Amino acid sequence: MKDRIGIIMAGGKGTRLYPLTKVVNKHLLPVHDKPMIYYPLSTLIRLGHKVIYLISTKESIPLFKKLLGNGKKYGIKLYYKVQNKPKGIAHCFFLLKKQIKNKKTTVILGDNLFISNFENLTSIINNQGCTIVCTKVRKPQHYGVVNLKNNKITSIVEKPKKPTSNLIATGLYLFDENLTKHLNQLKPSRRGEYEITDVNKIYLKKKQCFNYNLKSTDYWYDLGQINDLDDCSTLLKIYQQKRELNIGQLKF
Ligand code: DAU
Repeated sequence: MKDRIGIIMAGGKGTRLYPLTKVVNKHLLPVHDKPMIYYPLSTLIRLGHKVIYLISTKESIPLFKKLLGNGKKYGIKLYYKVQNKPKGIAHCFFLLKKQIKNKKTTVILGDNLFISNFENLTSIINNQGCTIVCTKVRKPQHYGVVNLKNNKITSIVEKPKKPTSNLIATGLYLFDENLTKHLNQLKPSRRGEYEITDVNKIYLKKKQCFNYNLKSTDYWYDLGQINDLDDCSTLLKIYQQKRELNIGQLKF
């Protein structure tokens, strides 16, 4: 894992959380006792990444730098990259094309919070191709929906009106070192964004797109909406009090 480049997407406008995010970047909002960004960063560090790029807006990068610095105190190298416009999650690969050439990469969304020990994940991710961390949810229509046959991915559909499965892609994706070679196939979607789902589909066509399912005892939150933010803060409070855990810690 230590040679993989980690990427955190912490840009965008966070409009679903207005007015909370009108002047504050969503990923700096508190989630129980820490700023949201701590949780995805903690996940990448726990998975063993030593070089991590944080992508955000021009206005927010100085704030992230103030909060997290160069990563030295967490035993990592933390770099920052400006995304001028929210051109999609997969836009990060264009922004970091030079840095990730011939390197394995892991992308995590800045509003994703995991409570998991990712059992066996490290043993499978040296596979060629891409691995999507998946979980089952009650309302799959809000996410990238993953269909399986004989435990293999047959399709991924971004926010379908009528989902045919309740397994969805969380915001944690692991890619092999060939990723940048596929970028010329990627075009902006109808909403004008480079979609991460389209990158996964390129691998799927090559039969190299795999799923890693979270355990039923794991927790995953997409913190894009206020109810999830509230619920998750409450869950963390209870969970940490009872179990003496420190979810989202950056020093291990
Ligand atoms: O959370 C899991 C879901 O995340 C997946 O199931 C979907 O397949 C995937 O497309 C994504 O959907 P969302 O609608 O949740 O993505 P959203 O636009 O909210 O962006 C997710 C994070 O990425 C958010 O923290 C902001 C950041 N972001 C987003 C865009 C579009 C950027 O940093 N730059 C961007 O251009």
